[in-house]
Amino acid sequence: MNRAALIVDDDADIRTGLSLILRKNEVECGFAASAQEALEILKHQHFGLVFTDLKMPEMDGLELLRVIKKRWPKTIVIVITGFGSIETAVEAMSAGAYHYITKPFFNNEILITLERALYEQELTDELIYLRAEVEKKYSFHNLIGRDRQMLEVFELVRKVSASTVPVLIRGESGTGKELVARAIHYLSDRKKKRFLGLNTAALPDTLLEAELFGVRKGAFTGADMDREGLFVQVTGGTLFLDEIGSMSPLFQSKLLRALQEGEIIPLGTTNPISVDVRILAAANLELEEALRSRHFREDLYFRLNVVEIHIPPLRDRIEDIPLLVEHLIGKLVEEQGITPKKVTPAVLRVLMSYPWPGNVRELENVIHRAVIVSEGEEITHRDIVFKDERFVTVASSDKFYGLPYDQAKERAIELFQRDYVSRILETTGGNITHAAENAGMTRAALRRIVNKHSIVVEKENEIEKTNQDES
Ligand SMILES: Nc1ncnc2c1ncn2[C@@H]1O[C@H](COP(=O)(O)OP(=O)(O)OP(=O)(O)O)[C@@H](O)[C@H]1O
Ligand SMILES: [Mg+2]
Repeated sequence: MNRAALIVDDDADIRTGLSLILRKNEVECGFAASAQEALEILKHQHFGLVFTDLKMPEMDGLELLRVIKKRWPKTIVIVITGFGSIETAVEAMSAGAYHYITKPFFNNEILITLERALYEQELTDELIYLRAEVEKKYSFHNLIGRDRQMLEVFELVRKVSASTVPVLIRGESGTGKELVARAIHYLSDRKKKRFLGLNTAALPDTLLEAELFGVRKGAFTGADMDREGLFVQVTGGTLFLDEIGSMSPLFQSKLLRALQEGEIIPLGTTNPISVDVRILAAANLELEEALRSRHFREDLYFRLNVVEIHIPPLRDRIEDIPLLVEHLIGKLVEEQGITPKKVTPAVLRVLMSYPWPGNVRELENVIHRAVIVSEGEEITHRDIVFKDERFVTVASSDKFYGLPYDQAKERAIELFQRDYVSRILETTGGNITHAAENAGMTRAALRRIVNKHSIVVEKENEIEKTNQDES
């Protein structure tokens, strides 16, 4: 903490008077007789506090305040003002002054303001320090995590980055597959060359081929000049193929050839070009299904999957959630200048009990929204909105605090009914009769709940006839 104050006033008596009070309280003092002089001093010496007069010839205190807040935003500025300029003082507050003191001032007034300012400064410093500690301790190339499985992921990332073997990164959507791919690239010798990602599921076959392998002039109508493919553009770097599970069989064989031979054939030619690219691929869990049904070639799978990194879903590492929340808020503060917000332990509990089907990306969205809509310094339950309300079960009943008891109970019952009935219907493929049997209730009773809450029934084999349902 910095117990040093710069006193800026064109009146020497005020400078001396103020310094007597401050020095008695172990605050070191510096002096400036004008705003310009103050700025000159601040360039060379750090002061945690600045006391400045408002009315000064040439550059006034308000202007000085604005410059200080812009260049040294952490410096606390307290303005001193005569009775005549209270309005300017208010303006100063909205420009970021910590407080204003009117002349003639009383010792106590100065002391109280001083202690409070120093205390808050200490808190801010501590928060910044703690945040930096979290980042140092639990972060690995932008990846946050302290969960044992995540530490294993970090370890694997470190190991594979030293080689050029293909790596297959697996994990549900939003678990950080692309972030892991980037970490591998930026930890490797290839970091000075490019990292390029391509979502292979987003492009039809021919476009994908043109994009990756390139096109020779005249290959098809409209190909009026040579175009380099990504394999060539990324030479020496890393190519990240995302969502490989849905690549067509034809394209799979072409990619396999490229990997086996280390060369590609642009569209419209038969001349191969040799390439030097490290391949990282990502797939979600549907790849298993594609392998089983032979929609995905096994030989290509083994080529890409020399090493597999599996990122666990967020719900299996809930102790990472507080760290991630802190990190994500910090990121918003840094990137978008949003004021920092605190998250209460009760809200954290709710966040830790939600199953996060969209993983870290969903958490990111929920936090982003909460930070924006929250009023005041804290994020409260009201600010947290989950995409899937079905998951807000009675277990996270914190959500209901603040509602009158009867309403809360009704809401809890509704959520329970929705959750229970949707899940039991899922297990019977939408068959209401079977679901009712399994639940030990009558078909009519189950139907009533379905209708009451407009639960969507996904039917697999059976066409429900609504007129019979009501019987
Ligand atoms: N461990 C983590 N630490 C910090 N941020 C993370 C972490 N994991 C994911 N994120 C963030 O969550 C978001 C989603 O991550 P990313 O795009 O890498 O996921 P993905 O698995 O590729 O998702 P998808 O399957 O939808 O493509 C990104 O904004 C990323 O920065
Ligand atoms: Mg991705």
